[in-house]
Amino acid sequence: MKILVLNGPNLNLLGEREPTVYGDNSLQSINERLSAKAEKMGFQLDFFQTNSEGGIIDKLHEARRDCAGVILNAGAYTHYSYAIRDAIAAIKIPVIEVHLSNVDNREEFRKNSVIAPVCRGSISGFGEYSYALALDALSYISGDEK
Ligand code: DQA
Repeated sequence: MKILVLNGPNLNLLGEREPTVYGDNSLQSINERLSAKAEKMGFQLDFFQTNSEGGIIDKLHEARRDCAGVILNAGAYTHYSYAIRDAIAAIKIPVIEVHLSNVDNREEFRKNSVIAPVCRGSISGFGEYSYALALDALSYISGDEK
């Protein structure tokens, strides 16, 4: 079972970007730990990071052909991209929204997610563990507790 882990704008700078908010770990090290967990669960992960809105949309379209689900951190696009929202609504596979930080206890604009209503669920505030929880959630909803 293949899962796409899709990270949006500025997440390539994890580790150096606002470490008090997003932690000290690089995206690569987060992905490596997630990969090790996925392997034990019998999942194969496909990782992709892009700073562009169109890149996220193209990857969501691609994923609908060969992935069982998507773990998506859309970064700031979360709060205003109707195009990403429409792309999620257009595909049938489950998309889990994730955030490292707790978007509900930060600035006002972060409290609104335009993608949440079309995602299968949202996980926010657990640092890199948000991705691990999303993987558990996908495993749970697939009924495949390998
Ligand atoms: C984020 C939260 C967003 O509000 C922000 O724009 C990000 C990262 C998070 O993972 O906490 O880029 O998605």
